[in-house]
Amino acid sequence: MLTSLAALLLCGNLFAAEPPVIDVATDDLSLVLRVSPQGEVLFDHFGGRIETAESFADYKNYRRSDYGTDPEAYPTMGGRNFREPALRVTHADGDLNTELRYVSHTQRTLADKNVSETVVRMKDARLPLEVELVYTAYARENVITTHAVIRNGEKGDVVLHNFYSSALPIRARSYLLTHLHGAWAKECQAEHTLLTHGAKSIESRKEVRTTHTENPAFMLTLDSESFDENYGEVIAGALAWSGNFRLNFEIDEFDMLTVLAGANPYASEYTLRRGESFTTPEMIYTYSFAGAGGASRNLHDWARNYGTWAKTHMVPTLLNSWEGAYFDFDAKTLTDMVDDAAAMGLEMFVLDDGWFGNKYPRDNARAGLGDWEVNAKKLPEGIDYIASYAHSKGLKFGIWIEPEMVNPDSELAEKHPDWVVKAPGREVPTMRQQWLLDLSNPAVQDFVFGVFDRTMGLSKQIDYIKWDANRHAESIGSKYLSADRQTHFWIDYAQGFYKVLERIRAKYPDVMIQACASGGGRVEYGALGHFDEVWTSDNTEALSRARIQYGTSLFYPATVMGSHVSATPNHQTGNITPIKFRFDMACAGRLGMELQPKKMTEAERAFARKAIENYKGYRDIVAEGDLYRIGTPYDESGAYAVLYVSKDRKRAVLFTYCIRYQGRTGLPEFRLRGLDPAARYAVRELNVEKSRCWFHGKTLGGDFLMQAGVNPKLEKIYDSCVFLLEASGN
Ligand code: DGJ
Repeated sequence: MLTSLAALLLCGNLFAAEPPVIDVATDDLSLVLRVSPQGEVLFDHFGGRIETAESFADYKNYRRSDYGTDPEAYPTMGGRNFREPALRVTHADGDLNTELRYVSHTQRTLADKNVSETVVRMKDARLPLEVELVYTAYARENVITTHAVIRNGEKGDVVLHNFYSSALPIRARSYLLTHLHGAWAKECQAEHTLLTHGAKSIESRKEVRTTHTENPAFMLTLDSESFDENYGEVIAGALAWSGNFRLNFEIDEFDMLTVLAGANPYASEYTLRRGESFTTPEMIYTYSFAGAGGASRNLHDWARNYGTWAKTHMVPTLLNSWEGAYFDFDAKTLTDMVDDAAAMGLEMFVLDDGWFGNKYPRDNARAGLGDWEVNAKKLPEGIDYIASYAHSKGLKFGIWIEPEMVNPDSELAEKHPDWVVKAPGREVPTMRQQWLLDLSNPAVQDFVFGVFDRTMGLSKQIDYIKWDANRHAESIGSKYLSADRQTHFWIDYAQGFYKVLERIRAKYPDVMIQACASGGGRVEYGALGHFDEVWTSDNTEALSRARIQYGTSLFYPATVMGSHVSATPNHQTGNITPIKFRFDMACAGRLGMELQPKKMTEAERAFARKAIENYKGYRDIVAEGDLYRIGTPYDESGAYAVLYVSKDRKRAVLFTYCIRYQGRTGLPEFRLRGLDPAARYAVRELNVEKSRCWFHGKTLGGDFLMQAGVNPKLEKIYDSCVFLLEASGN
């Protein structure tokens, strides 16, 4: 349907016809905008489907308008908006005020009939500054994404100060904010905060590795002070942006919450020349009536159908060389690892850091970054030899790069000091002994693309690239940007990153690429639009992983979650956990291993072989199924479970863990969810010689499993049980 209401002309401050109500709908949700008689575009509703959205046409909220404007779809500085504005500019003539007025809107269904697009055009009441709000509705997934396009039609430069992607006003009795915080090797820790009046913001000012500390995603539980996996109304949002971001939550004197989400305005004034426009990053929203679990499932469906490069495809099981060999290897070390990986049934071998640099060999983190030719001393046989060896054993091959970075000890730093992010006359602090290259510079973009392209040229047998980034931006300065455009750095870096990725994807659509940034520094949908998966964390220890993977799963699907079994004592935490617990944790994501197989015992290898074989049998459920978290890894009980149910509800895989000692007198019970109550499921315990659970080998009703549940023998810390459920008649 194409509905253009451009013909509706403003006549004084009144519409010639009824002011329009704009209904952006999915199967179960409505987002309703309304044009006020004065031409403001107001945001009336985001939540359950309202078939009669036109009822909003005469809606009155009876608040004192002289104390603040009504909730606007894109609040600006100017008029009576006293909240943090989504848009704040200095106009060409120095005017600081912007008052957006409706011009027209269009709605159409895209070639993919599941997707529809609504574009609302607005213009400042006085000056030719235009804003388009674009809403894309994904019917089946119940997801609506949105961004803004800001166009300067004025006679001179307009400076953008705030330029958020979206504003979401919400009215509820209480707002419980759930977001992810953390640090390197401790990413994605879930935190719940009851919002109070005033503002809270979640942001990154690091530009690169933006998601270690905070993640640009959140949930809001409405009308309840407790977070619930299964019940209640929950809004979830996630920003697709790989640079500095800001999510701002502000409760005003009308008890209304406004969420602003977008690129961080911090030190980021952006000048638009006459005729130029700025497109903000995409913000992704969903609304659930089935608690946090429902919100996650909507986002996962959207991510797998639209939001990630990989879609439902999951990277093969793999052995990564990092924790097993670090920088210390030769061709024999690697081919032995390939042999061991093949013997355990793994499907890919990934050569991590350390394979490059000659004048400045990459034998440690101090040298070589930037010099992407094969280290002739370490690997005189070349990369093709290792890659072909892996292929000859039936394995795919992957290789590590970190193309945005340079060590001071490198030929690249000698040749191109002007490419380093650095303010004139100031020292650039190194981090992990490296500097950041200035991706706002097109010459650097060409270089970074070239690193990828040349690496792919090292062998025809390269299937996977691990793209790392091990520092963030600080003391920023760009030799490419003029003195009056230095604040463009943050936006231009992120856009430069995307330009490179677009070129790579145009040439290499089928190469699998992992976004790693010292572990989980790039876990967000901006990166995932180009990458197949993320390296969830450098912390590979299974106990820590319970929380890291739980937090990640709130917003991101298992398809993107690289999870590796590593050695004990764990290299990050020193903790010692059984091999079964390590596998049972890693198998809930994209399984891999990251250790020296030669150091494993025969019994461990035999266990690994079996667990990998089992995983291959059910990983389609992990990749494509619906996720139900049962409890949380923060629960006092110490018992936690993750259940994936296939879309047809005929198969399910249940991972159960004991992550804290819980006494010796009883065992945890888990009521399952999402099954077919009328079906009967054959229950089989996996990754065990002989099950100790009474229900192993039984055929049980879906109703029983959901109403009564199961009580696996989880007696001691690090006990874990995995069950495959298959409906009879499969
Ligand atoms: C940080 C990554 O997160 C690790 O997995 C590994 O690739 C190292 N960098 C290599 O330097």
